[in-house]
Amino acid sequence: MCGIFGTIGDDAAMRTLEGLRRLEYRGYDSAGLAALFDTSDKDARVETERAVGYVSDLATKVNGRFKDSAIAIGHTRWATHGGVTEVNAHPHSSSDGLMSVVHNGIIENTSELLSEIGTSGYSMTSETDTELIVHLLHQALGDQRTPKAALEAFQSVIARLEGAWAIAVIISGMNGILIAKNGAPLVIGRSDSWVSVSSDPLPLYGSCSEVAYLDDGDIAYVSRENIDVISESAELSFAPHQGDYSPEDPGVFAHMMLKEIHDQPTAFQNAIAGRVSADGKNAMLSGFELDSNDLRNLDRINLVACGTAFFAAKLGVRYIRSLSKVPVEAYLSSEFPVESVGGKNTLTIAVTQSGETKDTLDALTRAKVAGGHISSICNVIDSTIARFTGNGAYLYAGPEYSVASTKAFTNMSAVLMLLALTLSDTNNPERARVIRGLREMPQRMSNYLHSEIDLDSIVDLLVDSKTVLFIGRGPNSHIASEAALKMMEIAYIPCIAYPGGELKHGPIALIEEGTPVIAIAPDDSHYPKMEANIRECASRGANVILLTNKETPIEDYCARVIRTPITDPFLSPFMSIMPLHLLAYRLAVRLDRNVDRPRNLAKSVTVV
Ligand code: F6R
Repeated sequence: MCGIFGTIGDDAAMRTLEGLRRLEYRGYDSAGLAALFDTSDKDARVETERAVGYVSDLATKVNGRFKDSAIAIGHTRWATHGGVTEVNAHPHSSSDGLMSVVHNGIIENTSELLSEIGTSGYSMTSETDTELIVHLLHQALGDQRTPKAALEAFQSVIARLEGAWAIAVIISGMNGILIAKNGAPLVIGRSDSWVSVSSDPLPLYGSCSEVAYLDDGDIAYVSRENIDVISESAELSFAPHQGDYSPEDPGVFAHMMLKEIHDQPTAFQNAIAGRVSADGKNAMLSGFELDSNDLRNLDRINLVACGTAFFAAKLGVRYIRSLSKVPVEAYLSSEFPVESVGGKNTLTIAVTQSGETKDTLDALTRAKVAGGHISSICNVIDSTIARFTGNGAYLYAGPEYSVASTKAFTNMSAVLMLLALTLSDTNNPERARVIRGLREMPQRMSNYLHSEIDLDSIVDLLVDSKTVLFIGRGPNSHIASEAALKMMEIAYIPCIAYPGGELKHGPIALIEEGTPVIAIAPDDSHYPKMEANIRECASRGANVILLTNKETPIEDYCARVIRTPITDPFLSPFMSIMPLHLLAYRLAVRLDRNVDRPRNLAKSVTVV
């Protein structure tokens, strides 16, 4: 959470603003910028600007004022300490205005340090934990503003912090940026014209030809001329950073979320390309440090994930259990019971779009410490988790910008299906059918997305709802959970999901005249029981919205029907989720929500 970007070079602040725009998915409640123009002037105050809202709000306030700055740092915030106000937005500056800091993470010993700086005469103007860093540094540095003294003073401050951080500081009279990393990502990029620091490598495509990742504990002074690093790990090493930045551009679509839903046929094709043989007989997910034999002989596989990725992991568990004998379970990363399920001959796989989710990284770390193997199924290439595990499989869904995850969910489910096939016995009779289904899926998805999916009358029914209940059984119980999460996070309507079998054990109490119930009931072995659930809801006055691929008289009991194409029951979740993601989207648009940047959320959750 929170994005940090800094630049040393021509028009540094304007480049930094552009970097912040590209990092905005990390947090977008407020943003700020600090810049120096003449780095030889030891008394020049750092110029700053802050704004509540988006980076575009900051850019409007800046209004070209920072043009021709030599060095700049910026921040896009997701509030942890203190409300969303301009005063709490970063950067935070020393009271003499000679140094400014931006920070991502949480300082855990804030109270202790606050009372200490209070007694030294420093007063806080914000409610943030970040501001104390600038006061501590100001106190430690005194008047000697040289790179060497600053690095030493910074090191002494960092040694006193507890928690997780990525920090960048600029100081008047100095032509470099002080940075430190511990538990939050930070990368250095460079080219002939600029040196940049960034929370992730994405914004550096197109402007920096090489990048180096800082390790936890690293502290550095970065200037155009050189990089002084204090590190306990290996030397900082730069690697080529080739590729173009693909801008967040919805093209013909109204929002990125809608575009990403429509990206799915191509994304799915990319997920299976090279992993499913052309004759449709074989499927193999490679990239793991263990070969398929070792994988099959594991005592257990643990999938760790959060949010949408967790529901994909739950679906993956069903696929793995159906096709192989390897014991497997999915855990919410923050609840991972490593003591009971970790250890030798186990494999813990992180399932994550961003590859930055701190809860998931922590679960992996605990699995590693417990002596097990670790791996990842991840979308963002070279993300923190991908680098931490060093092995695993990418999703190849392409960049997902909308905070609400859609195509990554589908590709996670597809890649976990490929893992299930990799673990399965090659004589398993279901294999050929499933592989054929996977190969046909991109075309089927595309046909469906191009068909008329009429959701308007369903949106009419839902738009004033106080709550929406989703039910499904078997694999589609996880689709119910995912669809409910999506509608809740972008439409801000409380949504509840239950396996159909649990209806009578509690949630049925919610049903009164007109309560919307979305029942996911494709033609599979669970259908008869779903039909019973639908009758139970309808007879109590619920407006049942049936999602099915079956012609069925139960439709007469339903207020609306969403029709999906006939598919192999094993693969029906891929078809069920598309109209439900679309429904969440259309409802959010009707309610005039900020679809791609829903309130209080961020695309990459790097705090616990
Ligand atoms: C929901 C959503 C979140 C993420 C969760 C995990 O639409 O986007 O629930 O799925 O924060 O994120 P990753 O997959 O990046 O680990």
